Amino acid sequence: MYQTAGKHRWISPSFSMALLCCGLLMLLCCFGSGSATVGEDVDYGGIPLWINRLLGEPSVLSLQGRMDPAWFRANNPLACPQQCDCPIQWPTALYCDHRSLADIPDQLPDRTQYLFLQGNNISSLPSSVLTNITGLRWLILDNNKLQSDKLELASLQNQSQLCYFFANHNHLTSVPSALPAGLKQLRLAHNQISSINPKAFQKLQNLTLLLLQGNRLQTIKEGDLKGLLRLNLLDLSGNLFSTVPKHLPPSIQQLYLSNNSLSALDDDSFVGFLNLKYLRLSHCGLQNLGIHPQVFNSSSLVELDLSYNKLTTIPTVPTTLQNLYLEANQIQEFNVTSFCREVGPLSYSRMKILRLDGNKLSYHLLPPDWVFCLRVLRSIYI
Ligand SMILES: *[C@@H]1O[C@H](CO)[C@@H](O)[C@H](O)[C@H]1NC(C)=O
Ligand SMILES: *[C@@H]1O[C@H](CO)[C@@H](O)[C@H](O)[C@H]1NC(C)=O
Ligand SMILES: *[C@@H]1O[C@H](CO)[C@@H](O)[C@H](O)[C@H]1NC(C)=O
Ligand SMILES: *[C@@H]1O[C@H](CO)[C@@H](O)[C@H](O)[C@H]1NC(C)=O
Ligand SMILES: *[C@@H]1O[C@H](CO)[C@@H](O)[C@H](O)[C@H]1NC(C)=O
Ligand SMILES: *[C@@H]1O[C@H](CO)[C@@H](O)[C@H](O)[C@H]1NC(C)=O
Ligand SMILES: *[C@@H]1O[C@H](CO)[C@@H](O)[C@H](O)[C@H]1NC(C)=O
Repeated sequence: MYQTAGKHRWISPSFSMALLCCGLLMLLCCFGSGSATVGEDVDYGGIPLWINRLLGEPSVLSLQGRMDPAWFRANNPLACPQQCDCPIQWPTALYCDHRSLADIPDQLPDRTQYLFLQGNNISSLPSSVLTNITGLRWLILDNNKLQSDKLELASLQNQSQLCYFFANHNHLTSVPSALPAGLKQLRLAHNQISSINPKAFQKLQNLTLLLLQGNRLQTIKEGDLKGLLRLNLLDLSGNLFSTVPKHLPPSIQQLYLSNNSLSALDDDSFVGFLNLKYLRLSHCGLQNLGIHPQVFNSSSLVELDLSYNKLTTIPTVPTTLQNLYLEANQIQEFNVTSFCREVGPLSYSRMKILRLDGNKLSYHLLPPDWVFCLRVLRSIYI
């Protein structure tokens, strides 16, 4: 009946670039059986990996089962480790993913810039293994068995070109320190991380995306995230926070805290985030009593997800908010003052999508004046 809400949107300047790349990816998909390994293993922590073909970035799809490795080998004069595939069209990429490797292959070619090692059985990252590579840009180690005590800190220190380091779904217990200063994305979702090494982030001024969901963090100490001047997206969902962590970088635009048991939201929980646009707080056990009436009074907020909580009334939200998700709560009253403090020619809510399904409301219970306030609404789900 209504269009689906853009709940899981990731806004990226390289989006248009990605469209350019589709042609080539589609082509690749037509080879071989195609369906074997795509899915869970290539979700990269839940945020798509957009590729910029103009920078020479390669396909991010696994090549396993798509083309005969012998074909690569026969058609590519460049040296290639026995355990990996080296497609001729991406000479700087090395695909060693999904082949039960217990170790990172040695004698990796010096030319390697994009190294795919996901879906193996790798537990260590020795400092020697990357010594001959100077231009590494991506290191993808999702779905392995990496352990913090076997990740030699010196290994990445010299990789000045490294911009993506992904180790989602591993066995790490802390955020590694000594990450190279140029890093732009760090994805460590679904590990067992309970601590952040002091100074881990001190030099990472260019980091824009940090995924730490599905870990065991209880608190963020002052200084833990210090140095992250450009952080845009921070995912802390599914950790052990009992309050909104303090000491988060003020540059954040997308903050995900779903699946933490939050007892309360104080008036200053989100103070200081002048750019905060997307806030996700679903599955947090939130009740009205613990929510300070001013907590969402932030004019930068565009989207607020409060679904799957224990709310009985609709919290006060700013008139500038555009998407509000309140599905699966226990809401039984609809008061226009939640959205509009006053209604006038210029005083109305900019809400476009409002989800109230799975509550104790029905359409005929809405007060007659709601349309004057929610004047630009496109979809309402009750
Ligand atoms: C992964 O390594 C462990 C030992 O560390 C071994 O028991 C297991 O069989 C290996 N799994 C695969 C798929 O190779
Ligand atoms: C690095 O290059 C040197 C000289 O070519 C070679 O002897 C050594 O084995 C290489 N190391 C690795 C880890 O590939
Ligand atoms: C990093 O670079 C320094 C200086 O060039 C060198 O001494 C050191 O061995 C390098 N470390 C690694 C792990 O390659
Ligand atoms: C951060 O990014 C800027 C702009 O792209 C670049 O000039 C700078 O060298 C980067 N910093 C590091 C430490 O790589
Ligand atoms: C939160 O937990 C639920 C139930 O365990 C799960 O279905 C959902 O994917 C999780 N969401 C996030 C964002 O972690
Ligand atoms: C929200 O905060 C502003 C100041 O930043 C204040 O003027 C305004 O009254 C607050 N709104 C509500 C509904 O309390
Ligand atoms: C709506 O909320 C306002 C402010 O909390 C209150 O004064 C008013 O009585 C409420 N209206 C209804 C119909 O409950």
